[in-house]
Amino acid sequence: MSRLRIYDETRGDAALARHDRHADIARELAAVGVRFEQWQATQPLAPGASQDEVIAAYRDDIDRLMREQGYRSVDVISLTPDHPDRAALRRKFLSEHTHSEDEVRFFVAGSGQFTLHIDGKVYEVLCEQGDLIGVPDGTRHWFDMSESPYFVAIRLFTNTEGWVARFTGEDIAERFPRMTPHPSAAKAN
Ligand SMILES: [Fe+2]
Repeated sequence: MSRLRIYDETRGDAALARHDRHADIARELAAVGVRFEQWQATQPLAPGASQDEVIAAYRDDIDRLMREQGYRSVDVISLTPDHPDRAALRRKFLSEHTHSEDEVRFFVAGSGQFTLHIDGKVYEVLCEQGDLIGVPDGTRHWFDMSESPYFVAIRLFTNTEGWVARFTGEDIAERFPRMTPHPSAAKAN
């Protein structure tokens, strides 16, 4: 189940609020300029579907967002718990950073945890299958895929060459909860 927990930036051990309903999560995030949507596949997707099949199943929503936001390219990333580089891949975005373009992810399967640091608060968003999150450029955040990564995600970009993390040098991410593996990932291990 998707989940949003909101913290004061100084207290990673005590959430101020927790939301499990999609509409509540979307409302709280919209208030700080973060997009959160649920998308439905327009055609069935079997495990092991190709990148083209995945994109085709969500074509209408992808096109809408590309039109509205000016994104110019789209791809699909897939990670499984047995990936040999999973520890290194996890560490890559585990500390607070920003990007010069929006970070837009739609979870076709599995889950991932985005934590956003905005105006003295921390918004921890557990994204599950069917969730889209759009983190605006310049927003401080980090991303956790847990020690057993399991997700298929569509990514939208304005410019893939600009896809570089600028680390803030702050250690705030270490004071907030890390992601618990997806139940399917735990079974697969
Ligand atoms: Fe990021």
